[in-house]
Amino acid sequence: MTLDLSRAADAIAARGGALGRPLVVRDETESTNDDAKRAAREGAAHGATWVAETQTRGRGRQGRTWLSPRGENLLASVLLRIACPPARVPPLALVAGLAVRDAAARALGRASSARVLVKWPNDVVVRGVDGALKKLAGVLVESQIAGGKVDSVVVGFGLNVHTRAFPPEIAGIATSLALEGGRDLDRGAILADVLAALDHDAEHVAFRGLGVVHARLAACDALAGREVAVESVRGTACGIDPDGRLLVRKAVGVVTHVASGEVTTA
Ligand code: BTN
Repeated sequence: MTLDLSRAADAIAARGGALGRPLVVRDETESTNDDAKRAAREGAAHGATWVAETQTRGRGRQGRTWLSPRGENLLASVLLRIACPPARVPPLALVAGLAVRDAAARALGRASSARVLVKWPNDVVVRGVDGALKKLAGVLVESQIAGGKVDSVVVGFGLNVHTRAFPPEIAGIATSLALEGGRDLDRGAILADVLAALDHDAEHVAFRGLGVVHARLAACDALAGREVAVESVRGTACGIDPDGRLLVRKAVGVVTHVASGEVTTA
């Protein structure tokens, strides 16, 4: 295990929150999300967390593969036992993105933090001086429903920390904390920050909705004011509604609420 990840358990304990205990750190696994989902079926408790130095079957949204060189980045999944209505899962996913965003911004320091944004529905991106958005992290939320209520939610995220060279096919659209100028980057401390932020907001959002974090989300909304295309909808992104849906203003002035989909920007 690389030195910075070996300090994760101490960093989490120092925050004193409910997430990150127990912490399972593996050198290699197929997918930390699958580790968490398997453990959830076997009765693992709220807060249990899995981290790996590398994954052999890391997954992204829409069936994509998530590749990450051994020891460079943060690959983690946390199990939440929150018996909320299934409709609250999309807002929870947004809060997870916000937690990763806030931890990444903190790691970069004040000078760069305003450039670290949440891109609906689940990406964390960095805005360059040219306005282009590069992906820093992705979040994969998977929920298990029982009796009409959420039984467990697995929040997985991959955050690019130390990687300095990406494969050519994604080099133009991906970035890392190291490439954005981060110094003395400590994956253990960053993980502890993500878990503490999620611990702070997740239950509130699961039972009361996005209200409590809506202003913070709006302040770091990567899509606001941009021309977007999502599914068959095209227009100007103009915020996120209380249910976590993207608001898109069409040319005719009608606002559409988009529940899911991949967004492309002009
Ligand atoms: C995306 O952007 O499509 C989401 C990527 C999520 C990747 C993380 S890495 C840790 C966890 N385990 C997985 O297999 N996927 C998530």
